[in-house]
Amino acid sequence: MNVADIQSKFSEVFGKTGEGIYFAPGRINLIGEHIDYNGGMVFPAAITLGTYAVVAPRKDKVIHAYSINASNLGVIGFNLSDTVYNEAHQWVNYIKGVAKYLQEEKGEFPHGLDILVYGNIPNAAGLSSSASLEMLMAHIFRCTYDLDLSPVDAALLGKRVENEYIGVNSGIMDQFSISLGKKEKAILLNCNTLDYTYYPIELKGNKIIIMYTNKRRALADSKYNERRSECDAAISKLKQFYEFDVLCDLTLEQLEAHKEALTEVEYKRTYHSISENTRVKEAAKALQQGKLQRFGELLKASHISLRDDYEVSGIELDTLVETAWKEPDVVGARMTGAGFGGSAFAIVKEESVASFIQAVGKVYKDKIGYEADFYIAEIGEGPVKLESIN
Ligand code: GLA
Repeated sequence: MNVADIQSKFSEVFGKTGEGIYFAPGRINLIGEHIDYNGGMVFPAAITLGTYAVVAPRKDKVIHAYSINASNLGVIGFNLSDTVYNEAHQWVNYIKGVAKYLQEEKGEFPHGLDILVYGNIPNAAGLSSSASLEMLMAHIFRCTYDLDLSPVDAALLGKRVENEYIGVNSGIMDQFSISLGKKEKAILLNCNTLDYTYYPIELKGNKIIIMYTNKRRALADSKYNERRSECDAAISKLKQFYEFDVLCDLTLEQLEAHKEALTEVEYKRTYHSISENTRVKEAAKALQQGKLQRFGELLKASHISLRDDYEVSGIELDTLVETAWKEPDVVGARMTGAGFGGSAFAIVKEESVASFIQAVGKVYKDKIGYEADFYIAEIGEGPVKLESIN
């Protein structure tokens, strides 16, 4: 589906021509998993897969939204003065949440919109389709109503939508990396202070291959919140011994010294958080210095820690990643995003991409019983207005 198809679908659904086309990316996280909500360092990048929207203004105060990906739901409408979460509104709750908090901060929007959305990131693939939609909407509202909203404030607003409106206790990584995405750059982000630095992604003839399990992240939200509570339990126990702001500020020595205060599960979750934070810093440095082999080793160590200590991978992700490790011409591979299904990625020599996909795809199909999907990830920009129509 290209931009012209999306435009003509807009006309078909709404009976008029759209006024502007917008795009917001998805993201992959190179390293620094499940530590954004514990004040750790993360190293994500925006990708060129993402979410498109065509919009046109309305005279009333109603938003009408239609998704090509959920066409069975038809057009879903809500009034800008009634932005209460409503389960029946399904995916449109993300739009409502963004509209609600933006209006609270910036004042009531002067008019409504017709919006048609199309995403080419597979749903629940661990590539942040929901943050992509939130940042897309923040950008549409920003441009349409001429709002003064910085990319960092947009990210914080999107996080608030997830946490308070949708009810997932996620961190800032997804919205931040999407809102501040830059072509060919990864963002080293300190999730405690929000200090960040761009790092060029120079992979010397290698490509990033996204490996999608085709397993939807079933139960992911409840498991996600469960991991957060386990960490919170560890934090409150460790606070008896140390003064600290965020869990990732502790050292492994400090953890070992009071290991007995924690349950085994709390110990493992904390061990992952602290060790992953150290790996991120080293990985960013290795990438900067062109030490790709070291970078790959850190990706592997990260996956093992997520598999064994944080326990968020699962047979589908492990099969993809562990098969990738055995292939020739692979710099490294790991799961990316929340886990429990979703996607992994591998960094593979350009000439070997086709044979890599074939080999890993076959092992996966034989073992899991259905196909995995593979995409070459290009690292792209944050939200943009692509063109004005007419
Ligand atoms: C999801 C969340 C992020 C982050 C990752 C795991 O994508 O939205 O905030 O916690 O999982 O690293």
